[in-house]
Amino acid sequence: MNKKFPERLLIGGAIAANQAEGAYDVDGKGLNTAEIQPYLPNVPKTELHFNDMDSKTFEEYINGDYYYPKRTGVHFYERYQEYIDALAEMHCETLRTSIVWTRIFPNGDDEEPNEKGLEFYDQLFNYMRKKGIEPIVTVNHYELPLNLVQKYGGWYNRKLVDLFTRYSKVLIDWYHDLVKYWIVINQINLIHFEAFASLGILKDKVENYEEAKFQAVHHQFVASAKVTEYAHKLDDSLQMGVMLADSITDPMTPSPEDTLLCFKRNRMQYFYGDVTIRGEYPQYALNFFKNKQLSIKFESGDLDTIRTNTADFLCVSYYYSNVVDASKNSMDPADVEKNPYIEENEWGWGINPQGLYIRLSNYWDRYGIPLMIGENGFGYNDVLTEDGKIHDDYRISYTKEHLKSVFKAIEDGAEVFAYCYWGPFDIISAGTAEMSKRYGFIYVDYDNYGRGTGKLLFKDSFDWYKKVIDTHGSSL
Ligand code: BG6
Repeated sequence: MNKKFPERLLIGGAIAANQAEGAYDVDGKGLNTAEIQPYLPNVPKTELHFNDMDSKTFEEYINGDYYYPKRTGVHFYERYQEYIDALAEMHCETLRTSIVWTRIFPNGDDEEPNEKGLEFYDQLFNYMRKKGIEPIVTVNHYELPLNLVQKYGGWYNRKLVDLFTRYSKVLIDWYHDLVKYWIVINQINLIHFEAFASLGILKDKVENYEEAKFQAVHHQFVASAKVTEYAHKLDDSLQMGVMLADSITDPMTPSPEDTLLCFKRNRMQYFYGDVTIRGEYPQYALNFFKNKQLSIKFESGDLDTIRTNTADFLCVSYYYSNVVDASKNSMDPADVEKNPYIEENEWGWGINPQGLYIRLSNYWDRYGIPLMIGENGFGYNDVLTEDGKIHDDYRISYTKEHLKSVFKAIEDGAEVFAYCYWGPFDIISAGTAEMSKRYGFIYVDYDNYGRGTGKLLFKDSFDWYKKVIDTHGSSL
């Protein structure tokens, strides 16, 4: 390209602790919701079975005779130095990772934090810094202490605001010298796709499931604002971010009906950013609740807390894009159609690099705060050749086109400070709990049942990404 990314842009990777660490029952850790997600080999790859969870399935998953991949992950807890070394060898500048709540508070409501858990992350962040890798830390990424689901009913219960805030304060107190960038909650807007993983609500335990989800996310808004307030008071150089999984859609056709429905649905996606960045519940959202007779309870002071503690930056994950068909007349964000103009991977994720340019530009135009790409990547069932190579030109091409889109958005004015490729080394899939949905530049030799040598092998994309980092984008 001959041009480089701006100096400030960090190029690196992102993982979630619950998909990598394993070690689910050591050093005082309690069980969390991710660790009851079974691997279900016979379920179609395009179906996610861990979302709309009812009590029956919940009990079955807790007590069932399944293999639970996230209990072992890729042994990051024991092997973190090897993984960080490999990332450092790729010249990775940043790694977004998360902290597992149950390492710190095993039941979520314990009196005292668990020192051993705190020490682990202290060592991890110190090691990353030693290797020149800037930590970007998500406080909560798709796991809740199991006890908080059983005893309180997840985020639907207001009590979670206090428990989460207390947990976050402990983290900020401990790590604020090591970690400057914090994302409070992973993909706060995915209350429809990832309802259980994100909110810990069992759908048969609440009277009105949709109302419960919006109430729960309100609690997350309030908690995020309180955590942001605390962090800024402690150290005003800390950057506190909100994260959205980009779910903006295009109309299926140019018909006024498709266009209108698409607009309305997209606005309800912007809702989460509008509350946490602009600091207000927008009128269109209040109308939406009223029309659907959803009654969301605000406690006195909530709206002030939200208004005065908005996010410093917006973290966006972007993988695919879909279209909306008005004849279905559905406002459910999970109800989407495939875009016939783009190709998709085995999991039905449609590849549309241009979408990233449009999304980033729109977020910038709407909010004007610094942006980071917290996740973007290509899941594929890679083939390991006999000579121990993985020729993943499909991944190179995906990443290259998406990075070019980041470049275009920056050229048009968007301020982007980090690009974190999802899963720079292979980890367990969040959606399907497979190991074989691989994203990495680094192959990790475990299979869907956790068997294998665990060796780390560099795929073809490893050298390619390293060059992108070394040339700060000019090799694209
Ligand atoms: C994001 C999640 O939505 O998608 C990650 O934040 C997840 O945790 C990523 O891994 C990719 O999804 P999957 O199901 O392919 O792992």
